[in-house]
Amino acid sequence: MRVAILGYGTVGSNVAKVLIENEKIIKARCGQSITPVIALARHAKKDALIPITSDINEILNFKDIDVFVELMGGIELPFQIISGLLKRKKNVVTANKALLAYHRYELETLAKDLAFGYEASVAGGIPIIKVLKEGLSANNIINIKGILNGTCNYILTCMQQVGMDFHNALQKAQELGYAEADPSFDIEGQDAAHKLLILASLAYNLDIKPEDILTQGIKDISSEDMYFANEFDFTIKLLGIAKLKDSNIELRVHPTMISKNKMLSKVDGVMNAISIVGDVLGESLYYGAGAGGLATASAVVADLIDIAKGNFKTPMLGFKEKLEFNLLKPEEIYTKYYLRIKVEDKLGVLSKITLLMSQNLISIESFLQKPKKNNENYTTIFFTTHFTYEKSIQNLLRILKKQEFVKDEPFMMRIED
Ligand code: NAP
Ligand code: HSE
Repeated sequence: MRVAILGYGTVGSNVAKVLIENEKIIKARCGQSITPVIALARHAKKDALIPITSDINEILNFKDIDVFVELMGGIELPFQIISGLLKRKKNVVTANKALLAYHRYELETLAKDLAFGYEASVAGGIPIIKVLKEGLSANNIINIKGILNGTCNYILTCMQQVGMDFHNALQKAQELGYAEADPSFDIEGQDAAHKLLILASLAYNLDIKPEDILTQGIKDISSEDMYFANEFDFTIKLLGIAKLKDSNIELRVHPTMISKNKMLSKVDGVMNAISIVGDVLGESLYYGAGAGGLATASAVVADLIDIAKGNFKTPMLGFKEKLEFNLLKPEEIYTKYYLRIKVEDKLGVLSKITLLMSQNLISIESFLQKPKKNNENYTTIFFTTHFTYEKSIQNLLRILKKQEFVKDEPFMMRIED
């Protein structure tokens, strides 16, 4: 089987490496050689393992290519390219979650009976697409909770465990090949939202856009939040959460405090993990490297092997008939919350805040005031709440912002039990 690789960067170069170095085991598994014939890149590559071209037309029209592997990144350009390939009846593999988050249903329509592999698009090397599409297909999916972005998990681990500064941790993640070409996709939560949408399509046949889901990134997390988390035995993780509630689906991506005794709290560094609860199986947990060239190449090559074996399953997103679910409105989210508020350190401030909380039906679970350093006028107070509605917390935040004793924007994080 002859393969063309569109994009010879972190992932593309490792796909070529794996196909060449593991040729023997791959051939034994699928009964034929899978040969990377040519790759596309903008710039010349000194140590490339296969011929490189910068001419997109040359590679798209290269003779006898059986599968095109898209590893360029971006959204509209790869959409155009892949649509053209599918119309020419070419099989496609991609790791591009941003592309799928916007165009997955159009691509499914174009793909029809062709093979369209995208195992590498969610959670790097973890075969989670197959899990939802095949392994758990007997289940109604009750919920999905996942650490879906390796870069954020790496940054948060560095900040919480060794007190590293956010920007240094991000720079290291970029050097290690974990981050997107534009790392704001990672740290602002969009990359995790793209992945959550792909999982929600496989679980619920949900056809919505990334902008429709509540998405918050990690860049406002401070060393004070890490201090509180360590004091109260929490770990801070960027989670993607999907929950089935009657005929509504709750979808959200945000930094989350989770108790240190939960399995997800022990998933450190670039590792990803996804907990899925199905009505038949109960909970199952999937763990593995979520980013990086080799981990991602592992999933890309697995798709190629499936194509070579001829056992690729259609339809691409796993449903032959439509399901009807609505997206739960964010204000109806019902969970526990953490609040960090910087206030003037003077008589009566705490009682004013607790009054505002009770007026908004928010009940306090725990409280901490950090002793002031030197002669500062301000101090930081921290709360966790019992279960309450998102609309109550948002209302409280709006009111707090207007109080003259509150300095800076109050910060809120959701807690997941
Ligand atoms: P990357 O290192 O930036 O590589 C992108 C490659 O595509 C480069 O070789 C680049 O050429 C080439 N390219 C981009 N635009 C092009 C254009 N217009 N014309 C010709 N060549 C072009 O990116 P990556 O990290 O390998 O990621 C590739 C895809 O995999 C993305 O969709 C990403 O979201 C996804 N992904 C990445 C990871 C990961 O851990 N890195 C994990 C899962 C999924 P030059 O080399 O000349 O710049
Ligand atoms: N930038 C992504 C991450 C790559 O850090 O998870 C894997 O999809």
